[in-house]
Amino acid sequence: MDRNDQKWIAETIERIREKISWVSEKNKERIPYTTDENGNYDDRSDNTKEWNIDDGLNWWTNGFWGGIMWLLYQDTKDDRYIAAARSCEKKLEQTFFDYYGLHHDVGFMFVPTAVADYRITGNAEVKKAALLAANLLAGRFNLQGNYIRAWNDLPNQDTRGWAIIDCMFNISLLYWASKETRDPRYQNIAMRHADSVMRYFIREDGSSIHIGEFEPDTGVFVKSHKGQGYGEGSAWTRGQGWALYGFVNSYTNTGKKEYLDTAKRVAHYCIANIPESGIIPVDFRQPAEPAWEDSCGACVIAGGLIELANYVPEAEKQAYLHPAVKILRTITETRADWNKDCDAIVQNCSAAYHDSRHHFTMVYADYFYIEAIYKLDHTGILLW
Ligand code: GLY
Repeated sequence: MDRNDQKWIAETIERIREKISWVSEKNKERIPYTTDENGNYDDRSDNTKEWNIDDGLNWWTNGFWGGIMWLLYQDTKDDRYIAAARSCEKKLEQTFFDYYGLHHDVGFMFVPTAVADYRITGNAEVKKAALLAANLLAGRFNLQGNYIRAWNDLPNQDTRGWAIIDCMFNISLLYWASKETRDPRYQNIAMRHADSVMRYFIREDGSSIHIGEFEPDTGVFVKSHKGQGYGEGSAWTRGQGWALYGFVNSYTNTGKKEYLDTAKRVAHYCIANIPESGIIPVDFRQPAEPAWEDSCGACVIAGGLIELANYVPEAEKQAYLHPAVKILRTITETRADWNKDCDAIVQNCSAAYHDSRHHFTMVYADYFYIEAIYKLDHTGILLW
């Protein structure tokens, strides 16, 4: 990174501070996921609305709003961000009592909220919620196959044997729980899951499958499913991000070198496939048209590359930082909204290639964008 990049980072942090200051004030009682046609955030904690079991308070992205609040708090020390984060945390605790809607994504829900709060402020009350979430995640582990089960029962689909690449992020909750309790059970589960993913999910070329299916009684690996990507054998970009950044996290939490090597392989695959434009598609193997983008996948990959650069020799760092900066500059210059007409910063996200809806905002794109910019400034904290 050169002086020009440093200037861009400093300016971008100023813009983030300015934008999140009014966005957080406007939405302090909400838990947003996306914006409507007028640019206003929705509220997944609005209990006057009829939600399905997993898209209201149980919605898997509900930890990222609190996570943004903690990122801004650790930068500005403005207590308004603590209040907004804690409002979100309090609401999320209700999900334990609802129980049926909870899923493998409790890591995404509770690491950027309860774990972040405990790490930053030492809040002992919220630590209980984080440990409870870790126990729920650990309870999803299948001894046959050594995988953490994804999702719950779906209509007309037997998912008992399904594991997904996304869980490489959720297991950070287990690493944290082991450190906190000095009980290795959680970390043992996380490492067994990571080992299975290394073996069955990561292909020769460094790309990752999205869903892997095991036979749940015997643990025999059966097959992969395309999941949110373009098709069987393709490479869903956000999934590549979960794999890359997730294996770095497993390395930082355990010191197991194979995890670092795996993160590098996935990183090399991603770097080789970043388009000249710097705009990241929904799937690295999708056809040229329609040119669906996923700015969120872009931010997750950038964050993983920056984190990875911390663990390679000095001479290799730029090989990871350079593409990360390219991605983030592209977002900043062409896919970010800094105005008051939209509550979200990052535009043009897509949840899945075959969904009917594309190019909308997603709160976790903002989370990973802001996290990555702070990482470049060396002022962030690593929550995972
Ligand atoms: N973890 C689900 C997704 O990335 O869409």
